[in-house]
Formats: sequence, C-alpha cells, structure tokens
Amino acid sequence: MKRAILAALGFATTMAVPATAEDIKVGLLLPFSGVYAALGNDIEAGFQLGLEQFGADSGATFEVIREDTEVKPPVALGKAKKLILQDKVDVMAGIVSSGVLGAVRDMIDGAGVPLIVANAGNDEATGAACSPYITRMSFSNRQINRPMGAWMAEQGVKKVFTLAPDYAAGRQMIDAFAAGFTAAGGEIVGQEFTPFQKTQDFGPYLAKAQASGADAVYVFYAGGEAIAFVKQYDSFGLKADLPLYGAGFLTSPLYVNAEGPAAEGVITALHYVPTLDNAANTAFAEAFTAATGRAPSEYAVQGFDSARALVEAVKAGATDRDSLAMALRQVRFDGPRGTLAIDPATNNLVQPIYVYETVAGEAGLTQKVLAQLPAEADPLNGCAMPAVTTN
Ligand code: PHB
Repeated sequence: MKRAILAALGFATTMAVPATAEDIKVGLLLPFSGVYAALGNDIEAGFQLGLEQFGADSGATFEVIREDTEVKPPVALGKAKKLILQDKVDVMAGIVSSGVLGAVRDMIDGAGVPLIVANAGNDEATGAACSPYITRMSFSNRQINRPMGAWMAEQGVKKVFTLAPDYAAGRQMIDAFAAGFTAAGGEIVGQEFTPFQKTQDFGPYLAKAQASGADAVYVFYAGGEAIAFVKQYDSFGLKADLPLYGAGFLTSPLYVNAEGPAAEGVITALHYVPTLDNAANTAFAEAFTAATGRAPSEYAVQGFDSARALVEAVKAGATDRDSLAMALRQVRFDGPRGTLAIDPATNNLVQPIYVYETVAGEAGLTQKVLAQLPAEADPLNGCAMPAVTTN
C-alpha cells in the first residue's frame, strides 16, 4: 500500500505521487479450465475492461494475480490460500461455482479478505453463511429462479419436470424455482439431478421427462453442459410438445450460437441480457465487443461490475482489507443491468430479473425480453452480520 508507506515516510503531501495513490493487489480466482472455463474467461475480460474504464482516474493501480480453480473445490481452496497467505492480496474477485464458493467461504471469512463474488449464486453465502467479507456482484440462485416459477405459473404452465446438475447450484436453483412455482399454483411432476461434469448423454433423463405428464421442462445448466443439453433436447424431438424453460445461463449469449437453432424458442430468466436498451449497456456492449470481438454475456457484465465495485470502494477512500470490505457493502450505481445496489443486510445484489426468449436475429441468435420482474432483496435466510459503519 503506497499511501501507508509514503505517510510513514512523511511524504503524504508531496507532489511525487497523488495523495490517494494505492497499489491494490487483486486475486482473481476463476475457472480457466474445466466445464466452466469459457465463463471464467468472459468474467476476466469484463473485469479487465472495468478496471481500464473506471480505474483510470481512481489514483490507484491494480495488480491482478489470476489463479485457475479448475471448477474443483479442493483446488480452489489451495489457490485461495496461496493468494491470501503468499501473495497477500488486498481483495479477491471471481468464483464461478457455488460448490467452490462453499469451499472457500470459511477461509475468506477467517482471513478477513474481501471477496467480490463475480458469479457463484450460492444462497448460503449471502444467507446463513454470510460474511462481512463476502459481497456479491452477480446474483443469488434464489433471486433468478423463484420469480421465474411464479411467472411461469401466471402464464398458465401447470405441470413441470425439472433437471439440473447435482451440486449446490443445481439443487438451490431448482428448489427456488419449485417454491415459486408451487406457491403460485403449479405442480412439480418429477425431478432429476444429473452427475455434475460427468453427464454426456441426457437421453435417459429426457425419456423420464417425456413420460412424466409434464407440460413443460425447467432446467439449470451452464457452460459445456448447457450446450450439450439444449442440443440433445432438440434432437430428442421434445421441444415442440414440451417447451423448454430455465435459468437464463442455459442460453447464455456466450455460447448460444454453439447451440444453434436448438436454442430457438427457449424461454429463460436472467439478471442481464446484452439487448437491454439503456445508455450504460450500449456503451458497455460496444466497448466489450471492440475488445473481444463478441457480444457481452451475463458473465462479462458480472466481471465488469465487480471491477467497478472495487474501484468505487477505492474511490470512497478504502485502503485495506477491512475498509475495502466495508465500502463494498455500500456500493450502488447505474450500470448496464440497470440500477444496482448491495443490500448490506446480506451483501447480495438487488437487481431486476429479465425473462427472455432466444430468437433468430440478423447476426445469429439474440435475446427478446418478454418481461421485467421487479428487483427484490433476498430474505435474510439466517444471515446475521455486523451492521455497516460509515467513516
Ligand atoms: C454456480 O455454480 O453458482 C453457477 C455456475 C454457473 C452458472 C451459474 C451459477 O452459469
């Protein structure tokens, strides 16, 4: 921390370095290999763009040290330990898998290193296992899926069969969907959880869905599993009789063109689509496309907003792990997703949710927004944290 050293040397008011200059060491913990590798790369691209755009006038320099979780909780734990103890990072950002977030939670909380969650939706991390050091700039699993359950019931869908990978995110997303759907009068007629990162043939599960008497299927799959699932669903011939719905990662703009026509007509819910019509999103989409050659996805915007949150915390005067953690809990800004604010009671983000249909566009598949569901803070879900204190 440059400022602390300069102050100790009596240079705090000299002209050599602006009085607010800081070196902030950031540990970026993401999957760069495994089933979520593309997601990690997109988050990193968004994060770097955010640092470039917002960091320039912050008076701080940001040194990013990246580590690959491989989507494996024990590997991620070892990498988190290295970033905290060996690299002595001031702050960490990243984490895609809910399972990985669950694994590193105690280490983050115990070490008192702020973590900006740039994807993993693990409800526990902003619920019973919340921490003043964990702030989420992505979404919670509940936040996306519960309102979608209610919306589908309101559209007249009555009986649903669900499918998801068998790990924390799959379980939490489907539980939240089922709670919203049944509370609004729907019925779950069958559920299957497929072995995570191991299932290549979804055929046996699709046969069960077909025989279940459901009038729709609701799923959570992401990354490589989403591509395989959507293609197999279509080639199994199910789409016409059994419409496919899900959490919007299923047809993410990051890989929807790899799914091709099989993704057309799939209706899903998500906290961001690149077709949102607002000035911040237009500017972001242009800058991201110029930098990467592709449209931004929800993963890209999560990385971008995570970097912005970090810069906002630094601009608010945060200089070390504790003050960064406290400042991150108070972040609020208008970004590509609309108005975002951290709920300091849980440290989860409050944001609108969009229901969108994947449709054919002029340059490949695109996202048609069907409905905007209101931004709602998650319930405490057992979260008890010290209140935010302002300096
Ligand atoms: C998660 O594990 O929380 C997760 C992973 C990938 C997604 C969304 C959520 O696209």
